Amino acid sequence: MLTLPAKKLGAQEIQERLAAYRSGDLPWRDGKVWAYVYPAPDDVTAIQKWAFTEFLTENALDPTAFPSLLRMENEVVGMCAAHLGGDEHVVGNLTTGGTESCMMAVKTARDWARKEKKIAEPEIVLPVTAHAAFFKAAHYFDVKAVIVDVDPVTFRASPEAIRAAMNENTALLVVSAPSYAHGVIDPIAEVAALAQAAGILCHVDGCIGGFLLPYFRRLGRTVPAFDFTVPGVTSMSMDLHKYAYCPKGASVVLYKNKELRKHQIFACSSWTGYTIVNPTFQSTKSGGPIAAAWATLHAFGDEGYLEAARQTLEATDGVLAGIRATPGLRVMGDPEMSLVCFTSDEMSPFIVADEMIARGYYVQPQLAGSSSKENIHLSITAGSLPHVAGFVKALGEAVTAARGKVHPEIIGQMTEMAKGLNGNLEASMGPMMAAFGIEGSHMPDRMGDVNALLNGLPSKTKETILTAFVNDMFQPPKREA
Ligand SMILES: Cc1ncc(COP(=O)(O)O)c(C=O)c1O
Repeated sequence: MLTLPAKKLGAQEIQERLAAYRSGDLPWRDGKVWAYVYPAPDDVTAIQKWAFTEFLTENALDPTAFPSLLRMENEVVGMCAAHLGGDEHVVGNLTTGGTESCMMAVKTARDWARKEKKIAEPEIVLPVTAHAAFFKAAHYFDVKAVIVDVDPVTFRASPEAIRAAMNENTALLVVSAPSYAHGVIDPIAEVAALAQAAGILCHVDGCIGGFLLPYFRRLGRTVPAFDFTVPGVTSMSMDLHKYAYCPKGASVVLYKNKELRKHQIFACSSWTGYTIVNPTFQSTKSGGPIAAAWATLHAFGDEGYLEAARQTLEATDGVLAGIRATPGLRVMGDPEMSLVCFTSDEMSPFIVADEMIARGYYVQPQLAGSSSKENIHLSITAGSLPHVAGFVKALGEAVTAARGKVHPEIIGQMTEMAKGLNGNLEASMGPMMAAFGIEGSHMPDRMGDVNALLNGLPSKTKETILTAFVNDMFQPPKREA
């Protein structure tokens, strides 16, 4: 077993060791990683780091103990509410990320429905394109999620399908601005009107787009009303650690008023310890992300964000033009922000993704789902702009290399085998993974075949495999390497 080092390590050795650990990480600093990271410019990063480390140890557990944190959180929430068309009644909280914000909205809706509507078992209606965070919320909070298909061409939620899925237990309708997978904005006004007519709640998930969309509108893009100005919208989520370029651990969840937000808060005086009253998941909560978010919003200012949005828009237009000009590729839906999703009917997108990765560009493969074919996803940021020409060139080469290549026949056979294994799937996982060169956290250079295998499986089987895989992956090392 790995144990604590017997002797203290010096700072230099710690730094060297951790630097060595990084050797397998995605090299995001060169601007070629088109997922996961939203890097701020160097000058902003410097002040973020200062603020983060300066407030690292302060604890937001008790808002009266460190009023600076409460003040920063309220100011950040206020700026976000104004950004999203909120009036003076809008309230909210900083959370650790989009998932927590979305989950809080579901928990709030559940408790609101139980208390105010006397619904014993509240349900939520989700377009299948809603972020997995809502599925997770349904799972964690034991709320029934009624999933509805989206339009197969536009990938937008269908108000008719949502209406048909509503019943007397429905507490919340969820829409996205935009959805992560296809980057399109749901018909928010129509869905919010359905919620309003039924006297229930409507959450707009602006985790990825809430911050950027108002800037795109100011830059001349057509952006439909998606925020608190839309009648019937009762809560929103918006991540700061995406297009506000804050360090990770920063998102806001906002509510139309305090009457609704009160259902989010958890207070406990039944135990024997200190008084607990937590507005969000965390109890002990570092001041680092709060201070860094505050610092970032001020370091950019409105003018800085407008310029970053301009660069993002230019980069997105360049990438979209490049994809559309590449024979064999097809953009899915009509991306309304800076998230682009494309596929091919002539070759495997997973092989194209591998070919891009081999050329130094990390792109994100997305498996097929209800109404959506397997594809490649790009999150384009301001930092992508200098890399657009290189990206488009590499994409052309990747497509040429991928054309005519197919996944080995064994993939199809393994898919069939995995489908037939049902309950015995977990026992057969080891040999299956070994066949792909997967061992613990060691992954093959090319993931295309693994993705192709997963892609052919029913979603429950996929979930079983992924769970077993991650269950193995998080495993303490036997001894120090
Ligand atoms: C629309 C949307 N909602 C929620 C989330 C979840 O955010 P996080 O990964 O910060 O938990 C994301 C993440 O990309 C998203 O795009």
